[in-house]
Amino acid sequence: MQIGEVMSKSTGINRVLTLELARVTERAAVAAAGLIGRGDEKAADQAAVDAMRRELNSLEIDGEVVIGEGERDEAPMLYIGEKVGKGKAPKVDIALDPLEGTTLTAKGMPNALAVVAMAEAGSLLNAPDAYMDKIALGGDYPEDIVDLDATPEENVKAVAKAKGVGVELINVCILDRPRHADMIAHVRECGARVTLIADGDIAGVIHTTDPSTGIDLYMGTGGAPEGVLAAAALRCTGGQMQGRLALNGGDQEERARKMGITDFGRKYKVDEMAKGDVVLSATGVTSGSMLSGISQQNGVIWTETLLMRSSTGTIRWIKACHTNKDKFHLND
Ligand code: FBP
Repeated sequence: MQIGEVMSKSTGINRVLTLELARVTERAAVAAAGLIGRGDEKAADQAAVDAMRRELNSLEIDGEVVIGEGERDEAPMLYIGEKVGKGKAPKVDIALDPLEGTTLTAKGMPNALAVVAMAEAGSLLNAPDAYMDKIALGGDYPEDIVDLDATPEENVKAVAKAKGVGVELINVCILDRPRHADMIAHVRECGARVTLIADGDIAGVIHTTDPSTGIDLYMGTGGAPEGVLAAAALRCTGGQMQGRLALNGGDQEERARKMGITDFGRKYKVDEMAKGDVVLSATGVTSGSMLSGISQQNGVIWTETLLMRSSTGTIRWIKACHTNKDKFHLND
């Protein structure tokens, strides 16, 4: 076996394939970047989807999308159940969000990303396109100090105690939505700070694992697909999370059942959403707190990508300069 073709004994995901995943999100991000600030969420998403699908289909994988752009009847491409890759081993699950932050992109706001995760087949939770209640914190804490069923005050106090600081030094990241008004008020009433984000809770969760962000805790309800992708990231970086599907009744319950979910009140931990050898790649579309967005200088395109793998524990920031104008241009 040659260097660079070292196979993971358990999954068959090799080093080359790991690095190839960065290319997948780079191309999706560049495609979406052509539509930054143009007020057209659908077109930006479609551009990212087309590019990500093309790149995934060039990989030597037998992949199945388990977290995708929606279910077969509602998404023309990269739907849950779609096969991607050249159909050769390894057999892998793919979770993707070609454009995390469609509104951010359309409005030219920070923090839009292209994201994909890959793991051995059967390793990623198959979740419907529904909401999920989430709570997450970084890796340096004892297990289970926070809980979805505890009050915001109880969770904030537990983190402050474990960190050995006063509650006023705890910073909680929450999506800025009316549904979170009570949660935000309770966090502030107990003395902690709140960092509101307009969109993009995958980054919100990942922030808890990076002390330089100043964010200790993520709380709130967001997309279930984003929940599984965030869990895939925490599987690589370390960190704790609980996610519980927030289904709105009949149709969503039926869809969840079809995916094998029977206990709708179950609280999933990180390794119940993403287990085994997980690889995750995220490329910035617009510049934000985690990554620089796509930029262009003298016709050369720059990308920044975060690439991580759980089995090796390696986290790479890849800054790339793309000079091939046939392949990389902003109106893909
Ligand atoms: P999109 O890119 O699909 O718009 O998702 C952005 C996002 O903010 C996610 O990060 C988050 O999980 C979800 O939307 C929250 O949903 P909603 O906008 O309905 O509150």
